Amino acid sequence: MDLKELRINEDRLRETLETSAGIGATKNNGLERCAATDEDKQMRDIYVSWLKECGCEVVIDEMGNIFGIRPGKNRELGAVLTGSHLDTQKPGGRFDGILGVLGALEVLRTIHDNNIQLERDLIITDWTNEEGGWFAPACMGSGVWAGNITKEFAYARKDRDGKTVFGEELERIGYKGDFPCDHKQWNLYGAYELHIEQGPVLYREGIQIGAPKGILCLHWYDVYLTGAANQVGPTPMEGRSDALLAFSEMNLVVNKVTHQMGAMVGTVGEIQNHPNSRNIIPDGVHFTVDIRSWDDDHAVKAWEMMKKEFEVIAERRGCPIRAEETWKVEHAPFDKVLWDRVVNVSEELGYTCKRMISGAGHDMSEVNKITRGAMIFVPSINGRSHVECEETPYEDCAKGANVLLHCVLRTANE
Ligand code: GLV
Ligand code: MN
Ligand code: MN
Repeated sequence: MDLKELRINEDRLRETLETSAGIGATKNNGLERCAATDEDKQMRDIYVSWLKECGCEVVIDEMGNIFGIRPGKNRELGAVLTGSHLDTQKPGGRFDGILGVLGALEVLRTIHDNNIQLERDLIITDWTNEEGGWFAPACMGSGVWAGNITKEFAYARKDRDGKTVFGEELERIGYKGDFPCDHKQWNLYGAYELHIEQGPVLYREGIQIGAPKGILCLHWYDVYLTGAANQVGPTPMEGRSDALLAFSEMNLVVNKVTHQMGAMVGTVGEIQNHPNSRNIIPDGVHFTVDIRSWDDDHAVKAWEMMKKEFEVIAERRGCPIRAEETWKVEHAPFDKVLWDRVVNVSEELGYTCKRMISGAGHDMSEVNKITRGAMIFVPSINGRSHVECEETPYEDCAKGANVLLHCVLRTANE
């Protein structure tokens, strides 16, 4: 058959995405399926059965990363890997990560149905806990695999409420596999990740495919403030040690420094206030800072500036401070050949395509350190993501999957 004419099955991709959307569905049309929860297990079980239906060998590693392998003609050659994550934010949408895994599955099914034997192995992956919204940090499965964090660190992480431990939960759902979680176990030639853009550029400009040149660096910090709790009524305003008030100033600092430095984004997204009572002065605040830039040194410099100002505020407000770096991943510049291939394939398929940059973090930040990588973006309606109303038209999902199909065919037959 003429491989050029091959297309994925748009209806089947839609049905598969809809099945996924039913596992952990929220009232507002979103999805809540955090890593190592019962919903995650339910989705993984179905996904593994789909891989087996395509005749794949399925490998589950110590971090619960799932690899479906379709052997190529020449098993000595490096494999082509593609995938993303099936976990979501809490709550999140139905497409972030999920399109990358189920789009890769659709590519695999298309190749399988047409009895196409590739030169190289094709590996499709579901990486564990990309989101990091429930168990921080993000990109846990791909991060351990790439050697950015240790397995022991990942296993010991507690959920956002501090009640459960990641390694125990992974074991409980039956996905703490035996296979070593280590990139050295794999011989790779290149990798692609299909994903929704999660920003407004493609949607605003009416462009069908985005070809990012890479991903911003991502730095996560955790800050802890200690105040002195007291009855709010009798305690004078002077001399209070109000941890929440100190935090409020610090949040403004994050915003101010980010604007001053430029070419970066900085966000406080999570805060825990203790004891969180309207008539007790807060004595403990924990908050997070997320900093992203194309320039890793720039991000570090911004954090140092923020921290210096935090210390001054903490001193003035009588609230001792402790700050730690929880996680960091460097910016990921993609392989020029694979990046160009995304653009060329899109144009050959008759889709409009734009070169851009990824502000969102992805498993590809880790995978790209180990092998040549590139990503394929499709538009997010109104540029919304990490929200329940996250949406991408199914026709656009299909276009992205077709670009992935032809990038994979070309690369796996080289
Ligand atoms: C990943 O979801 C991110 O925070 O960019
Ligand atoms: Mn994602
Ligand atoms: Mn996400």
